[in-house]
Amino acid sequence: MLVIGSDHGGYELKTAILEFLRARQIDCTDMGTNGPDSVDYPDFAAKVATAVVAGEASAGILICGTGIGMSISANKFAGIRAALVHDEFTAQMAREHNNANILVMGGRVLSAEVGTRLVETWLDAEFAGGRHQNRLDKISAIEQQQGKE
Ligand code: RB5
Repeated sequence: MLVIGSDHGGYELKTAILEFLRARQIDCTDMGTNGPDSVDYPDFAAKVATAVVAGEASAGILICGTGIGMSISANKFAGIRAALVHDEFTAQMAREHNNANILVMGGRVLSAEVGTRLVETWLDAEFAGGRHQNRLDKISAIEQQQGKE
């Protein structure tokens, strides 16, 4: 199961992505926001990141205006690898090299068409493992050193 969240800057793209996921019959829980009114992106990043860390969802999607605030917020959670992507190459690498468990996009940066394509690319890609796993292990070691776990 996936979880998705956005602020007002990502609301429109979130709606398009939910439609795409439903058409592909991919189970996804929408954690809001539920309209175009101004909200604070860290609140929604926290909801999605908490669900992923708790194992309630296998992965998450976050969208704000630029994607920057959502990625900064989500990456505060130990165990989260949130990747801000802009094109098919970064969406593919986010899975293959970084095994990103949250995909982040900018709703004011990407069209609905491109945004949904990036979600599809990330979902269909596979983590390459090997030397990339060693690097993820080093990220986990940094989290442990910082007493975040
Ligand atoms: C909200 O206006 C905007 O700051 C937010 O969506 C996001 O772009 C923050 O990084």
